[in-house]
Amino acid sequence: MNKTTATLAIALLGCLAHSCTQPAEPEETSENAYYQEPHRPQFHFSPEKMWMNDPNGMVYYDGEYHLFYQHYPDSNVWGPMHWGHAVSRDMVHWEHLPIALYPDSLGYIFSGSAVVDWNNTSGLGENGQPPLIAMFTHHDAEGEKAGRNDYQYQSIAYSNDRGRSWTKYAGNPVVPNTEKIRDFRDPKVRWDENLQQWILVFAVQNHVKFWSSPDLKNWTYLSDFGREWGSHGGVWECPDLFPMQVEESGETKWVLLLSINPGSPNGGSGTQYFVGDFDGKNFTLDPSFAPSVTDEKGVWIDYGRDDYAGVTWSDIPEEDGRRLFLGWMSNWDYAQVVPTTAWRSAMTLPRALSLKKTEQGYRLFSQPVRELEALRSGAHAIESAEITGLLDLAPQLPASPALLELELEFELPDGEPADFGVELSNSKGELYRIGYNAATRQFYSGRTKSGNHSFSDKFAAAVHTAPRLSSDKAVRMHLFFDVASAELFADGGATVMTDIFFPTEDFNQIKLYAEQGRVKLLKGAGYPLKGIWK
Ligand code: FRU
Repeated sequence: MNKTTATLAIALLGCLAHSCTQPAEPEETSENAYYQEPHRPQFHFSPEKMWMNDPNGMVYYDGEYHLFYQHYPDSNVWGPMHWGHAVSRDMVHWEHLPIALYPDSLGYIFSGSAVVDWNNTSGLGENGQPPLIAMFTHHDAEGEKAGRNDYQYQSIAYSNDRGRSWTKYAGNPVVPNTEKIRDFRDPKVRWDENLQQWILVFAVQNHVKFWSSPDLKNWTYLSDFGREWGSHGGVWECPDLFPMQVEESGETKWVLLLSINPGSPNGGSGTQYFVGDFDGKNFTLDPSFAPSVTDEKGVWIDYGRDDYAGVTWSDIPEEDGRRLFLGWMSNWDYAQVVPTTAWRSAMTLPRALSLKKTEQGYRLFSQPVRELEALRSGAHAIESAEITGLLDLAPQLPASPALLELELEFELPDGEPADFGVELSNSKGELYRIGYNAATRQFYSGRTKSGNHSFSDKFAAAVHTAPRLSSDKAVRMHLFFDVASAELFADGGATVMTDIFFPTEDFNQIKLYAEQGRVKLLKGAGYPLKGIWK
């Protein structure tokens, strides 16, 4: 089943299961203060109204981080795709802008990227200013329905007013689908300074294709990668390719992000990655990385279930130097039936990526961006303690766990079992646990009793697990809770888990627990966080 029919089928199944006939109309009563609906994230990006999926066109220009996104403004389920648009000066506080790209005679506007064309290679700039160029997939829904195979192709649009208005290029599509391949989409483009050319990567069923161009309009095929590597449990989507300096050694390696639906380790959609070299034509997997992706299990940027289609920002200034990532905080398994009506879904927190050589090979580390510290409205130290059973944090942390950042460092007991972590709960007896089990060497996130999950059998079927990379005796957990989500950055970002949940009353109690045996909390700190939508 292809994506369009698959998502429609999912929506329909959700409706059948819950006897609705139409997508629910958003509730717009005066009681709903702005961004205060039940389950509305307070410091994550979410659209004002209606449906959102993938982040698109992430580019930094003239002091602004642009975030475009897959958007259907007429419903809270997937439909004819537009590019919604928002900008931010810090990746934390967002200003909504009008829709940037509307469907047209060539099709819906599927996922893609944006760049600053600094040298005006495209000739589309005006008044000596570099244009912003967006590259996206045109998806011809009529063609698909008619049984054609060439209904997806790559097009561009340009803006000469800091992304406020966009014109589609008259010569679209710039990468036609001459081979007539279904699933031919999600272009991510970057300027290669050494070779003075644009490099494009996009996803085609079970592999990615690389193309090059001098001007973003005329493209030449370079190579394929991926048929024989990584996880192939579903369709490949939303790739990203970029170089990174390996920490400590300083060598340069290339990272290829690749989203896949389904096939992720805990079910549904997720994002794997590959580390290797790119010579301007071919991507070659690093031999030290290859063993970990031969077993079809893949290596994943996030082991939670709610981080999909993430890519990195283009044109971050050299003096900043960070590789900044953000994903869609949902999963195609249930995204269209989660219990919100006015809007559907949010993005993950923005993250800074780094690349390190570990005993298991090259690995990406993710850290929440430092700009998020501006959200802290206080700081509470949590004292060192020996934990057995439950430890209520309320006396030390007089703050709601609904909007909270937490940093904890535990010490594993020598040769004893240890299964410990953080528990959020409410007066309805709903609870969510995120922790570490030393016996299995796995972090885990358990939302099976976290509240409403009747909307999908796939939502709360199992506890989600993630392998631990580090073998340190100290286990560090950096956590963010935002009403309906948890993000764990463990061991300095070596293991990441993002999960959403829907308690019927906000979580208002927070405890540490040691399920078996004991564990020592070495130190901790809690930071109540402010919302961004006031
Ligand atoms: C990923 C994806 C992309 C596609 C878009 C359509 O979630 O399926 O491959 O471009 O969503 O909305």
